[in-house]
Amino acid sequence: MNQDIQTILLSKDRLKEIVADLGKRISEDYKDKNLLMVSVLKGSVVFMADLMRAITIPCRIDFMSVSSYGSGVKTSGVVKIVKDLDIPLEGYDLLIVEDILDSGMTLSYITELLEARGTRSIRLCTLLDKPERRKADIQADYVGCVVPDEFVVGYGLDYDEKYRNLPYVGILKPEVYSK
Ligand code: IMP
Ligand code: MG
Repeated sequence: MNQDIQTILLSKDRLKEIVADLGKRISEDYKDKNLLMVSVLKGSVVFMADLMRAITIPCRIDFMSVSSYGSGVKTSGVVKIVKDLDIPLEGYDLLIVEDILDSGMTLSYITELLEARGTRSIRLCTLLDKPERRKADIQADYVGCVVPDEFVVGYGLDYDEKYRNLPYVGILKPEVYSK
């Protein structure tokens, strides 16, 4: 797998620092709230697993799965709910946890949908932000790192379901997906 990576953007150690910092901020901001962390499968599971352990206040977690990408590298703009949340949302302060905010189509769709379910508040936390590619009018409240407009993999992020298990975030060599 390593040979398909052009550059390492975020090393294992850097990711640890980023997650610790986000966990500290979220713990502080949500100490008097009713935190429910919602992870958008599958890309955010690695980030979610680390982030929840960096949070020092009581919280609940839930998962939802949507598909927007298929196996390509460009967004289709079509978002389909594959698995919905199990927990009814009334009275919760929701924190949506995502791997990457790219065009923003996925998150703006999810946010709108969940807002209608009687949550107390909704905020977004994304590990990576690619603002250059934004199409929807959406910003994250917590951003781990802003990244350039390159296709990145690792630490949960995939290309064609591969590379999720890399312990770092790296830029995929373009020849891998232009084959
Ligand atoms: P958006 O709707 O364009 O913001 O797409 C968000 C989703 O697209 C993310 O949750 C990822 O699954 C996927 N995605 C966008 N950019 C990348 C990338 O550089 N690498 C891997 N997946 C990506
Ligand atoms: Mg994803």
